[in-house]
Amino acid sequence: MAILLTGGAGYIGTHTLVELLNGGYEAVVMDNYTNSSPKALERVKEITGKDFKSYDADIRNREDLEKIFSENDITEVINFASLKAVGESVEKPWEYYSNNIGGTLVLLDVMRKHGAKNFVFSSSATVYGDPAEIPITENCPKGVCTNPYGWTKSMLEQILMDIQKADPEWNMVILRYFNPVGAHASGRIGENPKGRPNNLMPFITQVAVGKRDELGVFGNDYDTPDGTGVRDYLHVVDLAKAHVKAIDKLRTNPGCFICNLGTGHGYSVLDMVKAFEKVNNVKVPYSIKPRRAGDIAQCYCSPKKAELELGWKAELGLEDMCRDAWNWQKNNPNGYED
Ligand code: NAD
Ligand code: UFG
Repeated sequence: MAILLTGGAGYIGTHTLVELLNGGYEAVVMDNYTNSSPKALERVKEITGKDFKSYDADIRNREDLEKIFSENDITEVINFASLKAVGESVEKPWEYYSNNIGGTLVLLDVMRKHGAKNFVFSSSATVYGDPAEIPITENCPKGVCTNPYGWTKSMLEQILMDIQKADPEWNMVILRYFNPVGAHASGRIGENPKGRPNNLMPFITQVAVGKRDELGVFGNDYDTPDGTGVRDYLHVVDLAKAHVKAIDKLRTNPGCFICNLGTGHGYSVLDMVKAFEKVNNVKVPYSIKPRRAGDIAQCYCSPKKAELELGWKAELGLEDMCRDAWNWQKNNPNGYED
């Protein structure tokens, strides 16, 4: 009984791998390293003291997948593999639809051929568009996405539900992540964006470490307490633990369900900057810039369903997120190249 982590060398994949291995689960990793490094997997081995199989393989490649499924007893798949840069998806929609949707369709086909019909999918709060209600519950209708990346998540959710409807042997867990940040407490694995970071926390850490002059705060005229965008940031280790709970659920009480994963607390951009400066005693210079296209004012969830159905609740707070993000960045200013 092994769990296959596609995209397992990435940011959330490596943290989940640590939790699975520490929990005594057997895990197999595949990644094409388009946005990651095999060095991250070496660090996971170092943190856990455990070994696991890894494949340099692509979810779009049927032969790659056939090899993995024939060499291992895969019982569940956690599908992290995806391109995820929002702006790039607007420039390269074909690549995003082909990689994320095309790749997942090949993966699902190989899974059913091998009778492995337990699937955990990395979805996103982006499927709610500009949410109809705050805090966002899973009953909130899906919305209009503002970019092809978001649509790949929204469309894949629909595809998974349709496949499960046609063949109830499938068990599908759709996890809608809010804003994962932070890093493993060891400082050995963390978020390692290529080029200029799109997301807030890696941008803050790069300013703090001196790689960038200042943070641009995208808009201070939103209808929020301080005018800057509000999000539900959650610690990546908490998020990783939710995947262990999802596997436990698939093994004990399988079915099909959708769950938000967040803390339920909304913090503004300036809350994040202030918390980061205070916890780490560093300066993060910033200036106010125009709003970023496609951004919404606020987005935070009700995490109640995750607690009820998965027995999962975020345990780490904003201080932990800021401390661990900084610990990773300052010890690895060049990511896995250090
Ligand atoms: P990441 O880029 O660090 O990890 C994704 C991994 O998938 C990378 O290692 C990449 O090399 C690999 N990959 C991409 N295409 C592949 C392919 N065709 N075959 C094999 N491997 C492939 O991203 P992450 O932050 O760890 O995100 C993991 C998942 O969570 C993604 O599906 C992402 O869309 C989703 N998600 C992330 C966030 C976030 O803010 N980080 C929020 C919501 C959802
Ligand atoms: N922000 C800045 N400056 C920056 C970067 C971000 O002010 O340099 C602001 C944004 O305007 C927003 C907040 O910080 O108000 C958070 O922005 P992120 O880019 O970190 O996160 P988003 O909520 O915009 O998007 C993230 C992922 C998406 C995912 C979405 C929902 O990037 O892929 O969460 O899960 F779809």
